[in-house]
Amino acid sequence: MTELMTDTFEAAMTRAVASLRRVDELNEQYRAGSVRVNVPDALRDGDRAIDTLVEQHLPASYAALQAASRGLFFSLPVAFDPTESVGPYLAIIDRDPGGKPYRFLDMGALIATQAFGDNEPAIVRAVLESLPFVATRYAHSEYQTVLSLRLKAALTRIAPAGAPRHFIVNTGAEAVENAIKSVLMNRVMTSPDGDGGFIVSFDGAFHGRTLGALAATGQDKYKDGFGPLPGVTHVPYGDLEAVRAAMGPDVAGILVEPVQGEGGVLPAPPGFLRELRALTSSAGSLLLADEVQTGIGRTGKFLAFEHDAVQADVVALAKALGGGVPIGAMVCKKFLEEALPPGSHGSTFGGNPLASAAALAVLDVLENDGLLAQVNQRGEELSQLLSKTASKFPKLVECTRGRGLLQALVLREGVDARKVMTSLQESGVLLTIAGGQALRFSPPLHSIAFWSRTFCRPNWSRSCSARRLRSGRVMFSVSRIAWRFSQTVNCLKMLCSWLR
Ligand SMILES: Cc1ncc(COP(=O)(O)O)c(C=O)c1O
Repeated sequence: MTELMTDTFEAAMTRAVASLRRVDELNEQYRAGSVRVNVPDALRDGDRAIDTLVEQHLPASYAALQAASRGLFFSLPVAFDPTESVGPYLAIIDRDPGGKPYRFLDMGALIATQAFGDNEPAIVRAVLESLPFVATRYAHSEYQTVLSLRLKAALTRIAPAGAPRHFIVNTGAEAVENAIKSVLMNRVMTSPDGDGGFIVSFDGAFHGRTLGALAATGQDKYKDGFGPLPGVTHVPYGDLEAVRAAMGPDVAGILVEPVQGEGGVLPAPPGFLRELRALTSSAGSLLLADEVQTGIGRTGKFLAFEHDAVQADVVALAKALGGGVPIGAMVCKKFLEEALPPGSHGSTFGGNPLASAAALAVLDVLENDGLLAQVNQRGEELSQLLSKTASKFPKLVECTRGRGLLQALVLREGVDARKVMTSLQESGVLLTIAGGQALRFSPPLHSIAFWSRTFCRPNWSRSCSARRLRSGRVMFSVSRIAWRFSQTVNCLKMLCSWLR
């Protein structure tokens, strides 16, 4: 080894050891309950825009944002600091007067991607251990490595039986694209007319933003301006009669999310997935499950389809699979390999060693920590808490719904959900909106007990009582909508104060 190489290696080793130590320290503090939401009080001044508040009170974030080019799309105007984030507590680069990082509580696990929260030691360790070979360009579709092979073996073990072929990609949209291509190609190979036919998908569905996945997406706001897109027939989600009417000899498959995530956290009605299975099987077409958001334990089973004891022919996975490292997978039944001529799929970086190492660590934690049972229990607690909130504010909250740790508080039409979200951000709590009116809760699956003990304090409802809310900073406005909005905000602020 040259001297330069030795120096570089030693410097990298020192940094890696220091960062692992910090991750362990942070996790200890988090487990001891001493990591809290920490945002400047001035941020809660809901009368001013968040950008102005950041400019005044979070100077490091503001400077970083100014130095960067303007983002193309909206994002929270702060600079996160991944080195100091832990579990659901995301640090930013600004420090409080005592030198501690300011932190937000992320109730969305970075949009259901950090299954175990940020800086989970097992994942960080796995990534660091793979450092000596991560800068290689092996991808499993051309060059399988010991890691991509181990990943496929782990997926075979964990994913429900009958789905033993895998194609590893980089994102959810890519996994969906490949699933659709496989099913169309299967029809080309097996039907007398040699045509791919088309896919049935659902109104409100979200399958990604690449053109094929976008075609299957059932929300105009993502598609407007990008037509015409390849042939997909959309029918109302949960409407079996509409599905039956859409079925015909040209249908190559039905693509469905077991819980529509972006569509508003809408679980499939009871029996719906089983009926789709029966319909596709009897019609000789295929069932495609988009489990990009619901998979990897989010709903209390490895795949949400398992709740209904239904096996799809093709499953798309991504998001939580990589524990923060980009990876996706199409998992399909064996017979589909015959439908895929060489070169019909490919991915330059799919199955690379870094992503494979991270995904292996995720599956290992999921299998060995008894997490799935915990998810069911915590999901139940979260659901009860949200239901209590809903019953206290019937004029504001239309309903609650979800499965496992993918839950939503659905606000009534006329309540400005975006303002509620911004107001929560100012209190240090991050949530996303799905389907226009649903406040989506998708917290990390792991270690949830550490904060749910606080979250589910028995006397929470007293603190959220109408009397206390009225005596708080409730702004009564002339308009009914503003009144509803302020009630909701205060209710949620109160709810979130228990989380700190
Ligand atoms: C159900 C579903 N499918 C596909 C996707 C697209 O995934 P990605 O953003 O990784 O391409 C998403 C992303 O939110 C999703 O929720």
